[in-house]
Amino acid sequence: MSHLMNTYARQPVAFVRGEGVWLWDEEGRKYLDALAGIAVNTLGYGHPALTKALTARIQSGVIHTSNLWRIPDQEAASDRVAEITGLDEVFFGNSGLEATEASIKVARKYGHDRGIAEPAIIVMEKAFHGRSLATLSATGSRKVQAGFEPLVQGFVRVPLNDLDSVRQVAERNKNIAAVLIEPIQGEGGINVSRLEYLRGLHEICRKHEWLFISDEVQCGIGRSGKWFVYQHAGIQPDVVALAKGLASGVPVGACVVGGRAKGVFKPGNHGSTFGGNPLAMTAVVTTIDTVKSERLMERAAGTGEVIRNGLKDLKLAGITEVRGMGSMIGVELERPCGELVKQALDAGLVINVTADNVIRLLPPLVMSEAEGRMVVERLAPLVQRFLEKRVAA
Ligand SMILES: Cc1ncc(COP(=O)(O)O)c(C=O)c1O
Repeated sequence: MSHLMNTYARQPVAFVRGEGVWLWDEEGRKYLDALAGIAVNTLGYGHPALTKALTARIQSGVIHTSNLWRIPDQEAASDRVAEITGLDEVFFGNSGLEATEASIKVARKYGHDRGIAEPAIIVMEKAFHGRSLATLSATGSRKVQAGFEPLVQGFVRVPLNDLDSVRQVAERNKNIAAVLIEPIQGEGGINVSRLEYLRGLHEICRKHEWLFISDEVQCGIGRSGKWFVYQHAGIQPDVVALAKGLASGVPVGACVVGGRAKGVFKPGNHGSTFGGNPLAMTAVVTTIDTVKSERLMERAAGTGEVIRNGLKDLKLAGITEVRGMGSMIGVELERPCGELVKQALDAGLVINVTADNVIRLLPPLVMSEAEGRMVVERLAPLVQRFLEKRVAA
């Protein structure tokens, strides 16, 4: 027994070594990883470029200084993030919730700057934006919110993929300053926004001068086959929230702004002691450079398609839908299937189940198509047996 707070239902396995898309536990058992630490380990495990860059950073003796000083690695990371997002200014924090929390603050400040005393933000049903008080209030899950009331005010919730609901809010609520959306909902069950919907939403934001905030904490950084999901729709948000895969395992978050949100934050409006420190920034620069040089977005698209097609081809009646984009994949089953996580571990495969009945696959972007086929080979018999059990019962 340890003294850890009881906040997670952990599986009794500890991974102690990794290479590529493979993990080994304390007993030396080998696992194929189709989860990447929940969309974090972009470059998989032990990537030589990341190991070399982080080692050099540590050997320099400087892994943290302070935002009181210039941080050249942070400047370099901001240039890369600005380039890939198409935006102008980057604030670095340490986690996804910090990125979305900062985005919410930007939206409120933007509203105040335009004379709205109590700015509100449109958010989506089933969305997940984090577990701070503001971000859990923006989250569309009672399970996440229960016990933490009073919630932070100023969020108006609408269903995903429904432009009419947004138009109705626009008509009756003059306090709206922004829309906050995960273009592919991760925790909510891999719910994909239609591209026409994203374009329509972007147009409504333009018309009303609202900020369009894309929470790409989980779906961003190449996972969809492009750097960001909004790029599939050909739109440019005003704010993008990033974290998870941005530094391939080193804690980081980023709130990136441009368009109408540029210049909203002034000195003193936001800050973070650790945010943007040289260790994390080295990992950001290396991750982005490696995704580019090894064409990992193309790989995420190709491997993701292999996995999705492999699972669709099973044509099992109990699979309600196989959905997603690139290497962000959801397999919805007809009933809750949390037990599959343990069964997959026993079969040497790391997966996750979210929203009760959706198998979630978020492999490292370095996963090859051959390894993608192995994911299907290991997962298929487990799903088949699980679904047959119901028939037999
Ligand atoms: C879309 C999205 N936003 C925000 C967060 C919060 O990130 P973190 O857990 O790093 O605070 C998550 C985490 O799952 C997420 O998926």
